[in-house]
Amino acid sequence: MAQRARLRTRFAVKKKFMAGILFLLTIILVLRDSGSALAAEPVVVGFSQVGAESDWRMANTKSMRETFTESNGYKLILKDAQQKQENQIAAIREFIEQGVGYIVLAPVTEDGWDGVLKEAKDAGVPVIIVDRMIKTIDDSLYSCWVGSDFRREGGVAAAWMEKNFESDKDLVIAHLQGTLGSSAQIGRSEGLQAVIDKNIGWKLAVRDSGDFTQVKGKEVMERFLRQYRHIDVLFCENDNMAFGAMKAMDEARRSYGADGEIKIISFDATRRGLEATLKGWISCNVECNPLHGPRVEQIISRLRKGETPGKLVYVDEIAFDAALITQKDVAERTY
Ligand code: AHR
Repeated sequence: MAQRARLRTRFAVKKKFMAGILFLLTIILVLRDSGSALAAEPVVVGFSQVGAESDWRMANTKSMRETFTESNGYKLILKDAQQKQENQIAAIREFIEQGVGYIVLAPVTEDGWDGVLKEAKDAGVPVIIVDRMIKTIDDSLYSCWVGSDFRREGGVAAAWMEKNFESDKDLVIAHLQGTLGSSAQIGRSEGLQAVIDKNIGWKLAVRDSGDFTQVKGKEVMERFLRQYRHIDVLFCENDNMAFGAMKAMDEARRSYGADGEIKIISFDATRRGLEATLKGWISCNVECNPLHGPRVEQIISRLRKGETPGKLVYVDEIAFDAALITQKDVAERTY
Protein backbone atom coordinates (compact mmCIF):
# COMPACT_ATOMS: atom_id res chain seq x y z
CA MET A 1 0.00 0.00 0.00
CA ALA A 2 2.72 2.39 1.16
CA GLN A 3 4.81 1.47 -1.87
CA ARG A 4 1.92 2.19 -4.26
CA ALA A 5 1.45 5.61 -2.63
CA ARG A 6 5.17 6.34 -3.01
CA LEU A 7 5.05 5.34 -6.68
CA ARG A 8 2.01 7.58 -7.29
CA THR A 9 3.79 10.55 -5.66
CA ARG A 10 6.96 9.92 -7.70
CA PHE A 11 4.87 9.75 -10.92
CA ALA A 12 3.10 13.02 -10.06
CA VAL A 13 6.47 14.73 -9.40
CA LYS A 14 7.82 13.45 -12.75
CA LYS A 15 4.68 14.69 -14.55
CA LYS A 16 5.07 18.14 -12.99
CA PHE A 17 8.76 18.17 -13.92
CA MET A 18 8.00 17.28 -17.58
CA ALA A 19 5.26 19.92 -17.74
CA GLY A 20 7.73 22.47 -16.37
CA ILE A 21 10.31 21.53 -19.02
CA LEU A 22 7.69 21.81 -21.77
CA PHE A 23 6.60 25.21 -20.47
CA LEU A 24 10.21 26.42 -20.40
CA LEU A 25 10.82 25.15 -23.94
CA THR A 26 7.72 26.99 -25.18
CA ILE A 27 8.88 30.21 -23.53
CA ILE A 28 12.34 29.83 -25.09
CA LEU A 29 10.83 29.26 -28.57
CA VAL A 30 8.46 32.23 -28.27
CA LEU A 31 11.27 34.48 -27.07
CA ARG A 32 13.56 33.28 -29.84
CA ASP A 33 10.90 33.97 -32.52
CA SER A 34 9.99 37.40 -31.23
CA GLY A 35 13.71 38.12 -30.82
CA SER A 36 14.35 37.34 -34.47
CA ALA A 37 11.35 39.49 -35.50
CA LEU A 38 12.75 42.35 -33.46
CA ALA A 39 16.15 41.82 -34.97
CA ALA A 40 14.80 41.80 -38.60
CA GLU A 41 16.10 44.94 -40.24
CA PRO A 42 13.48 47.13 -41.94
CA VAL A 43 13.89 47.80 -45.66
CA VAL A 44 15.06 51.39 -45.97
CA VAL A 45 13.41 53.35 -48.78
CA GLY A 46 14.52 56.87 -49.70
CA PHE A 47 11.71 58.77 -51.41
CA SER A 48 12.46 62.01 -53.23
CA GLN A 49 9.08 63.72 -53.51
CA VAL A 50 8.49 66.70 -55.85
CA GLY A 51 6.91 68.92 -53.20
CA ALA A 52 3.52 69.72 -51.71
CA GLU A 53 2.17 71.85 -54.55
CA SER A 54 -1.28 70.30 -54.94
CA ASP A 55 -4.01 68.16 -53.36
CA TRP A 56 -2.85 65.41 -55.70
CA ARG A 57 0.70 65.62 -54.35
CA MET A 58 -0.46 65.52 -50.71
CA ALA A 59 -2.55 62.41 -51.47
CA ASN A 60 0.49 60.85 -53.13
CA THR A 61 2.72 61.55 -50.12
CA LYS A 62 0.03 60.16 -47.78
CA SER A 63 -0.23 57.00 -49.85
CA MET A 64 3.54 56.47 -49.64
CA ARG A 65 3.65 57.17 -45.90
CA GLU A 66 0.74 54.84 -45.18
CA THR A 67 2.33 52.03 -47.20
CA PHE A 68 5.96 52.19 -46.16
CA THR A 69 5.39 51.82 -42.43
CA GLU A 70 7.50 50.11 -39.80
CA SER A 71 4.75 47.57 -39.23
CA ASN A 72 5.01 46.67 -42.93
CA GLY A 73 8.77 46.16 -42.49
CA TYR A 74 9.95 49.48 -43.96
CA LYS A 75 11.69 52.64 -42.93
CA LEU A 76 10.73 55.51 -45.22
CA ILE A 77 13.02 58.52 -45.56
CA LEU A 78 11.00 61.18 -47.36
CA LYS A 79 12.59 64.33 -48.76
CA ASP A 80 10.38 67.14 -50.07
CA ALA A 81 12.24 68.85 -52.94
CA GLN A 82 10.03 71.95 -53.01
CA GLN A 83 9.67 71.53 -56.77
CA LYS A 84 13.40 71.97 -57.39
CA GLN A 85 15.41 69.42 -59.33
CA GLU A 86 18.66 70.36 -57.55
CA ASN A 87 17.04 69.39 -54.23
CA GLN A 88 16.06 66.03 -55.68
CA ILE A 89 19.60 65.39 -56.93
CA ALA A 90 20.99 66.27 -53.48
CA ALA A 91 18.43 63.95 -51.83
CA ILE A 92 19.38 61.03 -54.09
CA ARG A 93 23.06 61.54 -53.25
CA GLU A 94 22.18 61.57 -49.57
CA PHE A 95 20.19 58.35 -49.93
CA ILE A 96 23.16 56.68 -51.62
CA GLU A 97 25.47 57.82 -48.82
CA GLN A 98 23.02 56.56 -46.18
CA GLY A 99 23.04 53.17 -47.86
CA VAL A 100 19.28 52.90 -48.40
CA GLY A 101 17.94 49.69 -49.94
CA TYR A 102 15.83 51.40 -52.61
CA ILE A 103 15.39 54.89 -54.01
CA VAL A 104 11.99 56.08 -55.18
CA LEU A 105 12.04 59.18 -57.35
CA ALA A 106 9.01 61.30 -58.32
CA PRO A 107 10.85 63.51 -60.83
CA VAL A 108 9.86 67.16 -61.12
CA THR A 109 10.90 67.34 -64.79
CA GLU A 110 11.84 64.75 -67.41
CA ASP A 111 15.38 65.89 -68.28
CA GLY A 112 18.64 65.91 -66.37
CA TRP A 113 18.70 62.66 -64.37
CA ASP A 114 21.36 60.54 -66.07
CA GLY A 115 24.31 61.67 -63.94
CA VAL A 116 22.80 61.09 -60.52
CA LEU A 117 21.01 57.89 -61.52
CA LYS A 118 24.34 56.54 -62.79
CA GLU A 119 25.73 57.25 -59.31
CA ALA A 120 22.89 55.21 -57.79
CA LYS A 121 23.44 52.40 -60.27
CA ASP A 122 27.20 52.32 -59.54
CA ALA A 123 26.40 52.16 -55.82
CA GLY A 124 24.06 49.23 -56.49
CA VAL A 125 20.89 51.00 -55.28
CA PRO A 126 17.82 50.17 -57.39
CA VAL A 127 15.74 53.20 -58.42
CA ILE A 128 12.00 53.16 -58.96
CA ILE A 129 10.50 56.12 -60.82
CA VAL A 130 6.97 57.08 -59.84
CA ASP A 131 4.30 59.43 -61.25
CA ARG A 132 6.11 61.50 -63.92
CA MET A 133 8.65 59.98 -66.27
CA ILE A 134 12.31 60.75 -66.96
CA LYS A 135 13.94 61.12 -70.34
CA THR A 136 17.02 58.93 -70.79
CA ILE A 137 18.55 56.79 -73.50
CA ASP A 138 19.81 54.35 -70.86
CA ASP A 139 16.81 52.68 -69.29
CA SER A 140 19.06 50.49 -67.14
CA LEU A 141 19.36 53.55 -64.88
CA TYR A 142 16.04 52.68 -63.25
CA SER A 143 14.37 49.38 -62.40
CA CYS A 144 10.74 50.27 -63.08
CA TRP A 145 8.37 53.16 -63.55
CA VAL A 146 4.74 53.41 -62.39
CA GLY A 147 2.48 56.36 -63.11
CA SER A 148 -0.09 57.99 -65.38
CA ASP A 149 -0.27 58.10 -69.14
CA PHE A 150 -0.23 61.89 -69.40
CA ARG A 151 -0.45 61.88 -73.19
CA ARG A 152 -3.60 59.82 -72.92
CA GLU A 153 -4.96 62.27 -70.31
CA GLY A 154 -4.32 65.16 -72.72
CA GLY A 155 -5.99 63.20 -75.50
CA VAL A 156 -9.09 62.49 -73.37
CA ALA A 157 -9.50 66.21 -72.60
CA ALA A 158 -8.97 67.06 -76.27
CA ALA A 159 -11.58 64.49 -77.34
CA TRP A 160 -14.04 66.06 -74.87
CA MET A 161 -13.42 69.44 -76.50
CA GLU A 162 -14.00 68.05 -79.99
CA LYS A 163 -17.26 66.52 -78.83
CA ASN A 164 -18.49 69.70 -77.17
CA PHE A 165 -17.28 72.55 -79.44
CA GLU A 166 -17.74 72.96 -83.16
CA SER A 167 -14.60 72.77 -85.26
CA ASP A 168 -15.15 75.86 -87.42
CA LYS A 169 -16.72 78.02 -84.71
CA ASP A 170 -14.39 80.64 -83.20
CA LEU A 171 -13.11 79.42 -79.87
CA VAL A 172 -10.82 81.54 -77.71
CA ILE A 173 -8.65 79.29 -75.57
CA ALA A 174 -6.55 80.19 -72.53
CA HIS A 175 -4.03 77.59 -71.42
CA LEU A 176 -2.77 77.31 -67.84
CA GLN A 177 0.14 74.89 -67.89
CA GLY A 178 1.71 72.87 -65.10
CA THR A 179 5.42 72.81 -64.28
CA LEU A 180 7.21 73.22 -67.61
CA GLY A 181 9.20 70.16 -68.63
CA SER A 182 7.25 67.77 -66.39
CA SER A 183 5.59 64.74 -68.03
CA ALA A 184 2.21 65.90 -66.70
CA GLN A 185 2.59 69.26 -68.47
CA ILE A 186 4.09 67.82 -71.66
CA GLY A 187 1.42 65.15 -72.17
CA ARG A 188 -1.55 67.36 -71.32
CA SER A 189 -0.26 70.30 -73.40
CA GLU A 190 0.31 68.02 -76.39
CA GLY A 191 -3.35 66.94 -76.24
CA LEU A 192 -4.52 70.53 -76.46
CA GLN A 193 -2.02 71.52 -79.17
CA ALA A 194 -3.17 68.63 -81.36
CA VAL A 195 -6.80 69.82 -81.41
CA ILE A 196 -5.83 73.48 -81.86
CA ASP A 197 -3.82 72.47 -84.93
CA LYS A 198 -6.75 70.47 -86.27
CA ASN A 199 -9.74 72.75 -85.72
CA ILE A 200 -9.62 75.87 -87.84
CA GLY A 201 -11.80 78.10 -85.68
CA TRP A 202 -9.90 77.41 -82.46
CA LYS A 203 -7.34 79.98 -81.34
CA LEU A 204 -4.85 79.74 -78.52
CA ALA A 205 -5.07 83.26 -77.09
CA VAL A 206 -2.71 82.93 -74.19
CA ARG A 207 -0.55 80.32 -72.48
CA ASP A 208 1.53 80.37 -69.30
CA SER A 209 2.60 78.14 -66.45
CA GLY A 210 1.02 78.22 -63.00
CA ASP A 211 3.43 75.52 -61.73
CA PHE A 212 0.51 73.32 -60.60
CA THR A 213 -0.21 75.60 -57.60
CA GLN A 214 -3.37 77.42 -56.60
CA VAL A 215 -1.55 80.68 -55.87
CA LYS A 216 0.21 80.85 -59.22
CA GLY A 217 -2.90 79.60 -61.02
CA LYS A 218 -4.75 82.61 -59.63
CA GLU A 219 -1.99 85.07 -60.54
CA VAL A 220 -1.70 83.83 -64.12
CA MET A 221 -5.48 83.78 -64.59
CA GLU A 222 -5.76 87.36 -63.32
CA ARG A 223 -3.34 88.34 -66.09
CA PHE A 224 -5.25 86.33 -68.73
CA LEU A 225 -8.51 88.04 -67.71
CA ARG A 226 -6.95 91.50 -67.92
CA GLN A 227 -5.60 90.72 -71.39
CA TYR A 228 -8.75 89.11 -72.86
CA ARG A 229 -12.25 90.50 -72.59
CA HIS A 230 -13.62 87.20 -73.80
CA ILE A 231 -12.38 83.65 -73.22
CA ASP A 232 -14.36 80.55 -74.20
CA VAL A 233 -12.23 77.80 -72.70
CA LEU A 234 -9.71 77.56 -69.90
CA PHE A 235 -7.58 74.46 -70.38
CA CYS A 236 -6.09 74.11 -66.93
CA GLU A 237 -3.57 71.35 -66.21
CA ASN A 238 -4.62 70.56 -62.63
CA ASP A 239 -7.40 71.12 -60.10
CA ASN A 240 -5.45 73.42 -57.80
CA MET A 241 -4.70 75.88 -60.59
CA ALA A 242 -8.39 75.65 -61.54
CA PHE A 243 -9.36 76.62 -57.96
CA GLY A 244 -7.01 79.61 -58.16
CA ALA A 245 -8.34 80.55 -61.60
CA MET A 246 -11.96 80.37 -60.37
CA LYS A 247 -11.06 82.70 -57.51
CA ALA A 248 -9.57 85.13 -60.06
CA MET A 249 -12.73 84.90 -62.21
CA ASP A 250 -14.96 85.48 -59.16
CA GLU A 251 -12.97 88.57 -58.22
CA ALA A 252 -13.02 89.87 -61.80
CA ARG A 253 -16.77 89.10 -62.04
CA ARG A 254 -16.30 86.84 -65.02
CA SER A 255 -18.61 83.84 -65.23
CA TYR A 256 -17.70 80.21 -65.76
CA GLY A 257 -19.35 76.80 -65.81
CA ALA A 258 -22.38 75.40 -67.62
CA ASP A 259 -24.10 78.74 -68.34
CA GLY A 260 -21.04 80.94 -67.95
CA GLU A 261 -18.61 82.60 -70.36
CA ILE A 262 -15.66 80.31 -69.67
CA LYS A 263 -15.75 76.50 -69.76
CA ILE A 264 -13.04 74.94 -67.59
CA ILE A 265 -11.22 71.73 -68.36
CA SER A 266 -9.13 70.37 -65.52
CA PHE A 267 -7.01 67.37 -64.51
CA ASP A 268 -6.58 65.24 -61.38
CA ALA A 269 -10.25 64.80 -60.41
CA THR A 270 -9.45 65.10 -56.72
CA ARG A 271 -12.31 65.19 -54.21
CA ARG A 272 -12.42 69.01 -54.32
CA GLY A 273 -12.07 68.93 -58.10
CA LEU A 274 -15.02 66.56 -58.41
CA GLU A 275 -17.11 68.72 -56.07
CA ALA A 276 -16.49 71.64 -58.44
CA THR A 277 -17.38 69.38 -61.39
CA LEU A 278 -20.63 68.28 -59.73
CA LYS A 279 -21.53 71.95 -59.26
CA GLY A 280 -20.89 72.46 -62.97
CA TRP A 281 -18.00 74.89 -62.42
CA ILE A 282 -15.51 72.52 -64.08
CA SER A 283 -16.95 71.08 -67.30
CA CYS A 284 -14.58 68.18 -67.78
CA ASN A 285 -12.17 66.73 -65.21
CA VAL A 286 -9.66 64.08 -66.27
CA GLU A 287 -8.53 61.75 -63.53
CA CYS A 288 -4.90 61.38 -62.46
CA ASN A 289 -4.50 58.76 -59.76
CA PRO A 290 -2.01 59.55 -56.95
CA LEU A 291 -2.36 56.37 -54.86
CA HIS A 292 0.99 54.91 -55.86
CA GLY A 293 2.20 53.69 -52.43
CA PRO A 294 0.91 50.09 -52.77
CA ARG A 295 2.04 49.94 -56.41
CA VAL A 296 5.59 50.95 -55.53
CA GLU A 297 5.59 48.53 -52.58
CA GLN A 298 4.55 45.70 -54.87
CA ILE A 299 7.47 46.51 -57.18
CA ILE A 300 9.93 46.56 -54.27
CA SER A 301 8.71 43.28 -52.81
CA ARG A 302 8.98 41.64 -56.24
CA LEU A 303 12.51 42.99 -56.70
CA ARG A 304 13.43 41.64 -53.26
CA LYS A 305 12.23 38.19 -54.29
CA GLY A 306 14.50 38.40 -57.34
CA GLU A 307 11.55 38.77 -59.72
CA THR A 308 11.39 41.16 -62.67
CA PRO A 309 8.35 43.46 -62.42
CA GLY A 310 7.07 45.17 -65.59
CA LYS A 311 9.38 47.99 -66.66
CA LEU A 312 6.55 50.48 -67.28
CA VAL A 313 3.24 50.26 -65.43
CA TYR A 314 0.44 52.62 -66.48
CA VAL A 315 -2.44 53.28 -64.12
CA ASP A 316 -6.06 53.08 -65.39
CA GLU A 317 -7.84 56.42 -65.29
CA ILE A 318 -11.20 57.85 -66.33
CA ALA A 319 -12.71 61.31 -66.94
CA PHE A 320 -15.72 63.10 -65.44
CA ASP A 321 -18.15 65.21 -67.46
CA ALA A 322 -20.14 67.83 -65.50
CA ALA A 323 -23.28 66.67 -67.30
CA LEU A 324 -22.86 63.08 -66.16
CA ILE A 325 -21.07 63.12 -62.81
CA THR A 326 -23.04 61.89 -59.78
CA GLN A 327 -22.96 62.56 -56.05
CA LYS A 328 -21.77 58.95 -55.67
CA ASP A 329 -18.68 59.68 -57.80
CA VAL A 330 -17.75 62.49 -55.42
CA ALA A 331 -18.52 60.48 -52.27
CA GLU A 332 -16.37 57.59 -53.44
CA ARG A 333 -13.33 59.72 -54.05
CA THR A 334 -10.78 59.18 -51.27
CA TYR A 335 -8.31 61.95 -52.12
O1 AHR B 1 2.42 64.64 -61.87
C1 AHR B 1 1.09 64.70 -61.45
C2 AHR B 1 0.69 66.12 -61.35
O2 AHR B 1 1.50 66.76 -60.37
C3 AHR B 1 -0.73 66.40 -60.90
O3 AHR B 1 -1.59 66.65 -61.92
C4 AHR B 1 -0.54 67.67 -60.15
O4 AHR B 1 -1.65 68.07 -59.43
C5 AHR B 1 0.69 67.40 -59.42
O5 AHR B 1 1.23 68.40 -58.74
